[in-house]
Amino acid sequence: MKLIICENYEEMSRTAARIAAETLLRKPDALLSFAGGETPLGFVHRFADMVNSGQIDPSRAYYVSLDEWAGLSREDEGSCGLFNQKELLGRMRIPFLQAHVINGAADIEEECRSLDGFIAAHGPLTLSVLGIGMNGHLGFNEEGVRFDLNAHVIPLSETTKRVMPKYFGEKFHPEYGISQGIRQIMAAETVLLLASGEHKANILREAVRGDVTNQVPASILQTHPSCVVVADKAAAAML
Ligand code: GLP
Repeated sequence: MKLIICENYEEMSRTAARIAAETLLRKPDALLSFAGGETPLGFVHRFADMVNSGQIDPSRAYYVSLDEWAGLSREDEGSCGLFNQKELLGRMRIPFLQAHVINGAADIEEECRSLDGFIAAHGPLTLSVLGIGMNGHLGFNEEGVRFDLNAHVIPLSETTKRVMPKYFGEKFHPEYGISQGIRQIMAAETVLLLASGEHKANILREAVRGDVTNQVPASILQTHPSCVVVADKAAAAML
């Protein structure tokens, strides 16, 4: 694992966007995947800015979303689909050649099959940009997840259920998540793990310095041949 410690959230976001841009310049037909949530918001905005200013051209590249709350559609407030549309795809003046965004309101087993199909057709992932959950989850690969799965539906952990109102208040009460599997994430050429804020310091230490265990799913990234952790000072405080 390579570790880049940034002064603050803004620098973390710009650093990650620079790495994503370098990936696209090196491989114009890359398959990119970015997490939703609070952490990557600045990063996806910077990425879209770089598209709009002509620094990078996504028109030959592919994009696939990472995860979704089961039951939420791409229009629902707080959904990963809406995040993708509003914060990334809808901001880009030049679109990706193809973008595949999970629909949590559709038949979720079918959504898993089509996610697998898209990644198989255009993958493996060139770059996966991830956040880390308070329990060390990646996407919705929760504690105890098998590391050899592709896209799957998984019950949300108690920690995730406690945290989820920050995305959509009490409007939705999902019980399951749909997620790319650890197998697909580990097959990515490069993985960026973003972390920001002191509330992530403890779990980031477990993921980066602790044992590799499915009780802290992000710890598997210690065994990835090209994983870069990009954290701000607050999140890196316990490393
Ligand atoms: C969410 C998502 C993940 C995300 C993580 C951290 O529940 N399933 O894809 O990376 O938890 O989210 P945040 O960046 O909002 O802290």
